[in-house]
Amino acid sequence: MGVIETSSSSSLCLLKSNFSSHPFVVPNRTVCPFQGNQRRVIAMSSTLPVEQQVNEGQRRLTGDSFIRSHLRKLKPYQPILPFEVLSIQLGRKPEDIVKIDANENPYGPPPEVREALGQLKFPYIYPDPESRRLRAALAKDSGLESDHILVGCGADELIDLIMRCVLDPGDKIVDCPPTFTMYEFDAAVNGAAVVKVPRKSDFSLNVELIADAVEREKPKCIFLTSPNNPDGSIINDENLLKILEMPILVVLDEAYTEFSGLESRMKWVKKHDNLIVLRTFSKRAGMVILACVFLFTDSYMVI
Ligand SMILES: Cc1ncc(COP(=O)(O)O)c(C=O)c1O
Repeated sequence: MGVIETSSSSSLCLLKSNFSSHPFVVPNRTVCPFQGNQRRVIAMSSTLPVEQQVNEGQRRLTGDSFIRSHLRKLKPYQPILPFEVLSIQLGRKPEDIVKIDANENPYGPPPEVREALGQLKFPYIYPDPESRRLRAALAKDSGLESDHILVGCGADELIDLIMRCVLDPGDKIVDCPPTFTMYEFDAAVNGAAVVKVPRKSDFSLNVELIADAVEREKPKCIFLTSPNNPDGSIINDENLLKILEMPILVVLDEAYTEFSGLESRMKWVKKHDNLIVLRTFSKRAGMVILACVFLFTDSYMVI
């Protein structure tokens, strides 16, 4: 059933039901095919597919009916296997496995981070939704005011958030493969089309082809990665400036910038109001569990 699997515990769209013995009921029909402790679709934002499927009560409503049609067509995302699962599959202890498939930092967080996490005073209270203290600390560290900074839960969340804020269904993004595949996946989730402009054989950007694509396809935004995943190539100032001149929102993902020895472009957001820079603690500080990511942009974009 497309990208969402009804037995999965990780899907955002599916909630464990408290009403295990009651089937879904729509007027005049008992329709839910799920039983026992399986998960159920209990709420979705759009009723359009349901109305189409029910068709005056003629057809059975299935779990698929609730899912937005473009999502039903998606190929499932292939997630990485966690240590525990790999460990069982390989018959080895997690600490004996060198895991390099998700670019995690093998050294983990510094000892101060572990200590601070162990001393959380109010782990049972929802944290500040505006991350005031963290944004103030990041502002001090970056030299940018905190109203230029938005904090999220992993780059995936902010990439998706940017798309939700910017893209209408049918809009286009530019992607420059080979690169981080999440841009393409999130675009599909958001009903956007992807215009692919492959990198040159040395992995540098093909700026001329990007300019052609922008003129021809009128995409809303472009996702760039520097250093790039998988090859580590850097986007030079000249190419970045040429792209920033184009009528397009530029999202520059700097997840690996601390490993490059080069300065981040986050301060460029003050000069270019079509630029968003993404940074993350996942790689530099080995803090994937907290999945803390931050975004620097012109302050109008911080909602
Ligand atoms: C280019 C790039 N951006 C972002 C991420 C993920 O960042 P986060 O852990 O903050 O979700 C990855 C993960 O591999 C990546 O390669």
